[in-house]
Amino acid sequence: MVAEIYLSSQVKSLGAVKMPESVHAYWKGIDDVTTAYYMGSEGCFTLVINPGKSNAIEWEKLRKNGAGVLSKLPKSAREIRIVNVDWDAQKALAFAEGMVLADYRFDKYITKGDKLSPISLVLEGKGSDKLAELIVVCDAVKTARNWVNEPVNALNAQGLGEAFQALGQSLGFKVEVFGEAQIESLKMGGLLAVNRGSQEPPTFSVLEYKPANAKNQQPIVLVGKGVVFDTGGLSLKPTPNSMDMMKCDMGGAAVVGAVFEAIAKLQWPIWVVGLVPSTDNRPGEMATCPGDIITMYDGTTVEVLNTDAEGRLILADALTFAKKYEPQLVIDYATLTGAAARALGTYGSALMAQAPESVVKSLKRAGENTYERLAELPLWEEYYEEITGGIADLKNLGKGEGGAQSAAMFLRHFTNYPWAHIDIAGTAFSTSPSHYTPKGGTGVGVRLTLEFLKQYING
Ligand code: BES
Ligand code: MN
Ligand code: ZN
Repeated sequence: MVAEIYLSSQVKSLGAVKMPESVHAYWKGIDDVTTAYYMGSEGCFTLVINPGKSNAIEWEKLRKNGAGVLSKLPKSAREIRIVNVDWDAQKALAFAEGMVLADYRFDKYITKGDKLSPISLVLEGKGSDKLAELIVVCDAVKTARNWVNEPVNALNAQGLGEAFQALGQSLGFKVEVFGEAQIESLKMGGLLAVNRGSQEPPTFSVLEYKPANAKNQQPIVLVGKGVVFDTGGLSLKPTPNSMDMMKCDMGGAAVVGAVFEAIAKLQWPIWVVGLVPSTDNRPGEMATCPGDIITMYDGTTVEVLNTDAEGRLILADALTFAKKYEPQLVIDYATLTGAAARALGTYGSALMAQAPESVVKSLKRAGENTYERLAELPLWEEYYEEITGGIADLKNLGKGEGGAQSAAMFLRHFTNYPWAHIDIAGTAFSTSPSHYTPKGGTGVGVRLTLEFLKQYING
């Protein structure tokens, strides 16, 4: 069955639209802002009246609206025709985006019952020329969600590297995955220290998409935390609760891989490098002990006071590796600190940056437009003082208060280029479904980054 959805600013505008007379008559009496449904022998029709402005707040309402309409449609309606009567392109696309993002189920492990096929969408009117791109972007979000939702017994560090390799092969970008031996010979001490308690080898994935028509002379490097499971290591997380959702600790890595999927499919003229250090973090006979001093990839020594502050250790080596690209900008994505989650809840991610104001502004704007919002936290030098002054160059632990910032200052130590750090600890994983965001992996960071890169390409 084809479900038809009309997007209009007022009922009056429907006059010129072709639809069954009975449906038209049914809706004629409506004059308020509303969503109205008509089910009859003629088919399934939905009317969405929205006379509102076209701005970021309204787009988010429309995404939720789109998700709400999808949940009301009969399950047999998998083909959907959206007729944009008189909205502007962005409003119609936001509505469609909400529908497409809501159309997600992680059901590959469900063995019983019928599985719903995905919806197929047609958009007529303004915005129709952008629908294909929108679907690529939403598919990338779902790729990120899928990776996050995979438990560690299905997706370990090696599996993540292989998933990137498969993606690169099918979409035509370069992927190299360093194994344990290579990581050892590079002396990536942070990644190796976190991996010591593990039964499985670490990986370090290097993705590169470099089209001939790239607008940038120096690459944009995206770094993602790829901790496929975080038990805390010997500084074990207390159960129940705090360990329960730690398969999401590669949410940053998922963002990086998914962004590559989209830009390669869309063939955007931009040179991007992706770096993903990956391992699980477990206790084990050989596990790093609290107090151990390790030597990082760049030679910095670090006193590991808490093995649960592992993200910064593996990211630091990746940030050092990024230096060799002389990058224009490095953005890292990491489920790094509970402090970021406590500060912002699930409503936004924490941004900490040492980059030109224009970059920060553009990231924040992308955050508003996609509603994957960013709140900036300061990189004050006092946070750096918290992680120095021990018996090695750095400590991997600052004070509990301001923990997102001291973690960021640890990372900053390993940068020498414009850099933005996005802590997605509160946003990468959701414990209950809401509107177009399912329970589990959210894919937050993917739409944000693609919007940012789009702004970058367009000027
Ligand atoms: N992966 C966690 C952070 C996290 C917390 C992600 C909640 C998602 C949801 C990280 O490795 C961690 O354990 N951070 C510690 C650091 C502390 C020991 C300095 C934290 O935030 O408690
Ligand atoms: Mn941890
Ligand atoms: Zn972690």
